[in-house]
Amino acid sequence: DKTQQDAEKRVAALEAIRFIKDGDVVGLGTGSTAKYAIEEIGKRVQNGLTITAAASSKKTDELARSYGIEILDLQTLSSIDVSIDGADEFTESLNLIKGGGGALFREKIIASLSKNRIIVADASKKVEKLGAFKVPIEVIPLALQYVTDQITKLRGSSLLRQINNETFITDNGNYIIDADFGLIDYPEELARSLNQIDGLLAHGLFIGLTSKVIMAINNGVVVFE
Ligand code: A5P
Repeated sequence: DKTQQDAEKRVAALEAIRFIKDGDVVGLGTGSTAKYAIEEIGKRVQNGLTITAAASSKKTDELARSYGIEILDLQTLSSIDVSIDGADEFTESLNLIKGGGGALFREKIIASLSKNRIIVADASKKVEKLGAFKVPIEVIPLALQYVTDQITKLRGSSLLRQINNETFITDNGNYIIDADFGLIDYPEELARSLNQIDGLLAHGLFIGLTSKVIMAINNGVVVFE
């Protein structure tokens, strides 16, 4: 249930923090699991841990700053030591779906810059095949119809993300399409096809962008790497 899931999220987040050392540049994820990690890093910074960080969303930026964590300008970074982020789904082969919170583009840049990419998750995120969770796709608004049509050609159905009856707008001023491809047999192939579409800024398939998944289950952790 929900309380158990929250407890698991926290256990996974605390385990991930062991990989952070003094002097590191740390990539901070977005979402309810990453939040536990940010809060704990914040407490440690207040107790003398000296790290700097990159934030994957405005929300994370604000939360981290509220703890006194120094946030670097992502624009100028060419490497991040370790990043900690959540996922909506993961497989044992370390492929992910991310972007449930709409922060996938910055999350992907941070993962790409990171040397050690840690995903923290509760046990409900583990799947045999990706795709029960719809693939979030960030689209530049003027290309909405074009991208929707391309997704149709890839046998996907598109839903424009709404929040409280309004079109959801990302931190970058774009839309999110939640695309349903059914269960995905060949995620690398689908990711490659999506990468070809002009006007599509980023998709939530994270292939080869994960060093390890720390999954909490029944107060213990299982690590996939
Ligand atoms: C944010 O855009 C997402 O990629 C999150 O990392 C993902 O949705 C997981 O969120 P939770 O930790 O809240 O489940």
